[in-house]
This record gives sequence, C-alpha cells and structure tokens, in this order.
Amino acid sequence: MRKPIIIGNWKMHKTCKETIDFIQEVEPYLNDHCTYGIAAPFTALKDACNHAQKLVVAAQNCHYEDHGAFTGEISVGMLKETGVTYCIVGHSERRQMFNESDEAVNLKVKALLANGIIPIVCVGESLEAFESGKTNEVVEGQIAKDLKDLDTEDIKKLVVAYEPIWAIGTGKSATKEIAEATIATIRQAIAKMYGDVSEEVRIQYGGSVKAENIKDYLAMPDIDGALIGGASLKADSFKAIIEATK
Ligand code: PGA
Repeated sequence: MRKPIIIGNWKMHKTCKETIDFIQEVEPYLNDHCTYGIAAPFTALKDACNHAQKLVVAAQNCHYEDHGAFTGEISVGMLKETGVTYCIVGHSERRQMFNESDEAVNLKVKALLANGIIPIVCVGESLEAFESGKTNEVVEGQIAKDLKDLDTEDIKKLVVAYEPIWAIGTGKSATKEIAEATIATIRQAIAKMYGDVSEEVRIQYGGSVKAENIKDYLAMPDIDGALIGGASLKADSFKAIIEATK
C-alpha cells in the first residue's frame, strides 16, 4: 500500500516568520491518512525543520555537486544540515526559466539519494504537446532520462510528480481520468526500467489542485497524492485540503 503524499510547493513565497506561523496553525489539523509537507524556500528550511513535528519539509531545488564555484547554488550536503527529508527536482518552472535539463535532474536525483534525501521528480508536458497527443511520449522520455542508472532499492523511495505544464497556476486542472492515465503510463515507464518496484513509487498529480478537487484525484488507483502550489499558501486553504483528504 502506497501512502499518499501531499506537498505544498511554496515557490518563492514566505519568510521564516510566515513559515513558522503557517506550521503552527496547520499542524494540529494533520491526520494519518496521508503524509503532508511543505516545500519552503531555502532561507526558511531550517526554521521549518525546527518547528515541524508531523509535516515533512522539502527543498525546492539543489545542485548536484558537493561544493565548488557555483554562485548562488545550494548543495545537497547544505540541505541535509537543515534537516529536510525531501527535495523537489525538475519542476517545470526550473526547466523552463532556469534551463534545467533531464541530465541535470538525473545528477540531482543521484546526489540526493546518496545523501538520504528523497527526490520529488517532476515531469509533465506543455500545452502544445498535450494538444498534439504527445503527453505519453514526453513523460516517458523524461522518466527514461531523469531516472537513468539508479539502484532498484532507491527507486522504491522515490516520489514522482506528474504536473502538466498547462495546468500549473492556470486554474485549469487535468481531469482525474487524464491524470490517472498519464500516471499509469509513468508507472509503466518505471516498470520497464526497474521492474516491479515501480508499484512502490508514489506518484503525485500536480496542477491547480485545491480542496474542491483533491478527493477526485486521491480516489484514482495510481494517484498517490498531490503537489500543490497556489492552494497551499494560505493556512486556511491547506487546512481545507487536509480536511478533504479524510
Ligand atoms: P498550482 O502549482 O497548484 O498553483 O497549479 C503546482 C506546482 O507548480 O507544483
């Protein structure tokens, strides 16, 4: 049985104080149905880890080298010191705005696993690819490159997030049927590379998830949670999401 995992992806939002306030407000509402967490900005990670008791804390990015002349970057060792247990990699905003390649995503996944941090690997197609029926081709290609040459044992720990780019921040979510079909395709792509352990990988859906629609996604057999942007920012909205997952 895969336990669903719901992560709020805060992107470039929230100071340390706002992070602590959010955690204190939300923690009493958590339940055991799902793993719940927040992906806070780098600057707030340590405070988040110090204050969170049940919420898991994720970073939103990392560099794959241990150290070096990479101005502005953060290594996995530095992340580890903050106490985070997860790290998002390959979010479409990073792929599009910061030229993050599948090769870099693969190196980041390896660096994270080597340091005991669980990667949340994001994949997803553009509107153009979706409209021309290329969704499966795109996500299969991303999975093949992003998850290349990993240990089968490590695959079990992974979280993958299917996030169609056209559904992110647009209010236009993929239907539960589309999300389920693509996530099933992603699971098959992992099975092709690593066999049955694909059944243990948690695969989230992301893209305009909110309290009103999260139940629909969680009811689908292959969907194991959600990566939530906008609707995760306000404590009230996140509490409504938690409530809806019961
Ligand atoms: P959204 O963002 O929920 O605001 O669509 C999701 C994400 O970018 O992870």
